[in-house]
Amino acid sequence: MTTESEHAAMTEDGDPSVAGTAGYEVISNAKLSADVHRLVIRAPRVAAVRQPGQFVIVRLGPGAERIPLTIADSDAEQGSIVVVIQAVGKSTSDLVRLAAGDRIDDVVGPLGRPSDLITSGTAVCVAGGVGAAVIYPIARRLAEIGTEVITVLGARTSESVLYAEEFASFAELVVCTDDGSAGRAGLVTDALREVLATRSVDVVYAAGPVPMMSAVAAVTKPLGIRTIVSLNPIMVDGTGMCGGCRVTVDGVMRFACVDGPEFEAHDVDFAELADRLGTYRESELTASTHVCRGSA
Ligand code: NAD
Ligand code: FES
Repeated sequence: MTTESEHAAMTEDGDPSVAGTAGYEVISNAKLSADVHRLVIRAPRVAAVRQPGQFVIVRLGPGAERIPLTIADSDAEQGSIVVVIQAVGKSTSDLVRLAAGDRIDDVVGPLGRPSDLITSGTAVCVAGGVGAAVIYPIARRLAEIGTEVITVLGARTSESVLYAEEFASFAELVVCTDDGSAGRAGLVTDALREVLATRSVDVVYAAGPVPMMSAVAAVTKPLGIRTIVSLNPIMVDGTGMCGGCRVTVDGVMRFACVDGPEFEAHDVDFAELADRLGTYRESELTASTHVCRGSA
């Protein structure tokens, strides 16, 4: 867990080589699909220590919303991290418009517990849409430490398939699209069922939309296959103090920012999570300009 004093230290991370500059420099911004961008941000202290499964909370400037973003990759030598952002509201749309050289006020992290990775056997990594950026560091590290990895990568169309080349470089990959324009036609759960019917699998890791993670859990539960999901509730402070990210797991209230973001899927109350996210998205989409409750 990150303490408040660590928070203070981390917000001074910026670019230590440039005296008098504040914030965190955007090194590059690449468009991956219609509404998804990959930003490389200079954040040396985060890059030096982050582990798969961890995230940062980004705030562009005064009045902007705090956005939790999984650290998809990092380069400790360059002192940079990679985040993947889907433009779904004002704050995320402002972030994907940034150009190289622009600065972000706050990048706080690494936050959250590192992934619980198995070191042998077989893992299926299921990624839906933008969840690919969450699953990528997990799958890659699993492969590096000797676990057999099968990735099931789903998207609506061929244009929204993310990280396919990267996954294919180290693991067996099954791509599926809702419309059949790339890979096989169908949902990730269709492909997952086929993999589980023919292979002996120890753990399933999944990240993507809540209905997808819930559906993955419904597939694996009757088979008794341990399943770990990365949850994406609303987050504000990222330190376990505001309660914004609360989720119910095995009947107990947990905070995704400090107890997660990964949890045992079969214990998660997905209906409650979907309900809380739905309420939040409604207000986010209708607000053209607003001061978010997460703003300082
Ligand atoms: P999407 O809606 O395009 O879905 C991607 C794929 O997930 C689909 O192609 C399908 O294969 C699968 N899927 C979706 N619903 C399913 C269901 N009910 N049953 C089985 N499979 C299903 O995804 P998107 O638009 O890229 O995702 C956006 C969502 O992902 C947002 O809600 C965002 O908050 C969430 N997200 C989650 C994380 C995380 O950490 N879990 C990270 C980033 C984004
Ligand atoms: Fe505030 Fe988790 S984001 S408690």
